[in-house]
Amino acid sequence: MKKLFLIFSSIVVISLSGFISNTPKLSNDEIISAKVDSVLSLMTLDEKIGQLNQLSFGIGWGPTIKVAVPDEYKAQIREGKIGSFLNAIGAEFTYELQKVAVNESRLKIPLIFGLDVIHGFKTTFPVPLGEAATWQPEIVEMSAHYQAIEAASAGIHWTFSPMVDIARDPRWGRIMEGAGEDPYLGSLMAAAHVRGYQGNLSDLNIIACVKHYAGYGGAEGGRDYNTVDFSERTFRDIYLPPYKAGVEAGAHTLMASFNEIGGIPSSGSKYLLNDILREEWNFKGFVVSDWNSIGELILHGFASDLKHAGEISLNAGLDMDMESRSYITHLKELVDEGKVDESTIDESVRRILRIKFMLGLFDDPYAYCDKEREQKNIMTNDIKLASLEVAKRSFVLLKNEKNILPLKKDYKKIAIIGPLANNSVDPIGGWGGLGDSADVTTVLEGFKNYVDGSSQILYSKGCNIDDQDKSGFKDAVTKAKKSDVIILCVGEDRDMSGEACVRSTLDLPGVQEDLAKELLKTGKPIISVLMNGRPLSINWLNENANAILETWFAGTMAGDAIAKVLFGDYNPAGKLPATFPRTVGQVPIYYNHKNTGRPGDLKNHYTSKYLDLPLTPLYPFGYGLSYTTFEYSSLNLSTNKITEDDSIVVSVKVKNSGKYEGEEVVQMYVQDLVGSVTRPVKELKGFKKIMLKRGEEKTVNFTIHEKDLRFTAADMKFKSEPGLFKVFVGTNSVDVNEVQFELID
Ligand code: GLC
Repeated sequence: MKKLFLIFSSIVVISLSGFISNTPKLSNDEIISAKVDSVLSLMTLDEKIGQLNQLSFGIGWGPTIKVAVPDEYKAQIREGKIGSFLNAIGAEFTYELQKVAVNESRLKIPLIFGLDVIHGFKTTFPVPLGEAATWQPEIVEMSAHYQAIEAASAGIHWTFSPMVDIARDPRWGRIMEGAGEDPYLGSLMAAAHVRGYQGNLSDLNIIACVKHYAGYGGAEGGRDYNTVDFSERTFRDIYLPPYKAGVEAGAHTLMASFNEIGGIPSSGSKYLLNDILREEWNFKGFVVSDWNSIGELILHGFASDLKHAGEISLNAGLDMDMESRSYITHLKELVDEGKVDESTIDESVRRILRIKFMLGLFDDPYAYCDKEREQKNIMTNDIKLASLEVAKRSFVLLKNEKNILPLKKDYKKIAIIGPLANNSVDPIGGWGGLGDSADVTTVLEGFKNYVDGSSQILYSKGCNIDDQDKSGFKDAVTKAKKSDVIILCVGEDRDMSGEACVRSTLDLPGVQEDLAKELLKTGKPIISVLMNGRPLSINWLNENANAILETWFAGTMAGDAIAKVLFGDYNPAGKLPATFPRTVGQVPIYYNHKNTGRPGDLKNHYTSKYLDLPLTPLYPFGYGLSYTTFEYSSLNLSTNKITEDDSIVVSVKVKNSGKYEGEEVVQMYVQDLVGSVTRPVKELKGFKKIMLKRGEEKTVNFTIHEKDLRFTAADMKFKSEPGLFKVFVGTNSVDVNEVQFELID
């Protein structure tokens, strides 16, 4: 420590001298760089390589709450062979690990602890696809802020979140972890997560990690880890923007993805990890691999062995090796053989040390290991209320026939039925961190919490989520017959979405639909509550249920949020961040598609369509109803011609013409009618969520600048092109009014 003190004190002198002799003071960044270089200058090659090595704690998967530090890990930490752990959790346990690094290693470089805090650490928030359905970046930022408080209080410095992969195939289970199909919405949600997690890097903030860089959601067939192969233009204009938005929001790390793009695995791609990330975007943070994604270059047929994989990845710009052990095992030989320059290793070490300095770990390595904080800051009322608020705002009202919702408060008997009706496990959703089912409010509990003694609540599970057992139907029908209304809670289990959880169908699993059909025969109204991690082809429910509320996996407060929304305490205003297909056979189906030379026309055989399906999805991108109604009028433009120096104000009047006050997400889309390449039929370019009292009307304005019209043109330059454009404004991507303008040279 003495040596380090001398170095740091010399830096202090440098910076003070600048102050005294009025030479320019060093900036914060310059001071950190000087500190990093000082530490780097003391490091042996082994110690440098150790900083690039990340190991997972615990046996296999899942967070490790509290185990004694095994000697083999202590020895490696002591020898400076480990720079980071993932899945080491708890103020006390991370303290034990940190103590070894800070007291017993030669240079006392602190460890950085990472964990997948995707939608909650202990208090679970809605899954990210649900958070995206709020169309409120500020709400997502608040969610991430609270997640960070819990995680940081439990010793976690760094989350492997946000997952920002665009997904156009709902068979892909990781659609649950992201913000859906649209680059504009996805970019705003990526930036909101980063701001919420990182804040001002206080000791209640955590480092964000934008993942999975890049293009992971484009897996063929929706099969996780599968080949990704799309044009550079599709990559640049559809899949890349959310990663860039995360970087521009200040994310300090990225995670390289498992997949290849067009033959080059991301974890070995210099084009991605250096050319785009460093040279185009000037990213200064570090990149961690996905779990053994370096080692998987061998299976990709891109590396001959683990040593070759390490050579490729390090030289491509992948800084930290999660769990492949390629770097710690082979980098020294690779340097000796001249296949990797030590200067390249230095660059990666600098990036990692810089983040450790920025987090204050050198100043106080134990700042996140405070047991009192841990007790005080986790599962607090504030955090639970925040989770409840996010949950209510994430719900999407898909159907509400004859305004059966909100539920009349005088319903005497309410039957809560279905495998998700009194289920405290699945509302946590995938990647639920330490979310505990014991803390979850089920729908049944939420209703009991809500209704006073005046209403009787009946319950029946009816069936399981995913088997063929119909033995519970009889009891369910009996309870339904005694009720005034049925709340039918159906969907998926939490392990049907998330990593490697790919389904070949989008139907309700098991016999849930059969149960619904039996309940329909009772003649009682059916309000269906959907819990799921992906768009589902709920055609029968759409035809036969009286109302459908999409609740995704709403987290710890699910039951209370659902009861409050169904009874009208909160008027649902969520909008779909991903298209719901009528059947898996329609996939891929997404709103910002191309027109083709033969756009679908059911009256014309020779056009792009299916013989056995309508042209449209079950529910389109941006769709969501309200308990009230909104009327759009007076759509107009401030001008109908602009040059690249001008802008256009799009204005529209929105009136609440219904019986309840409510929020509406007013959406603005643009179409470039003719381009040097074909252009999507529409692209989301703006939205505003407004609150309108009954009868209230507001004018909503959007501004379009020339930069909003840019795309990757035929010459691969990102630019706008003069010509005609259409502007669409409305309540979703289909129900819109349109006007036209021209961009002139
Ligand atoms: C997993 C996931 C990644 C996660 C990492 C660490 O394989 O792909 O999203 O952050 O491993 O758990």
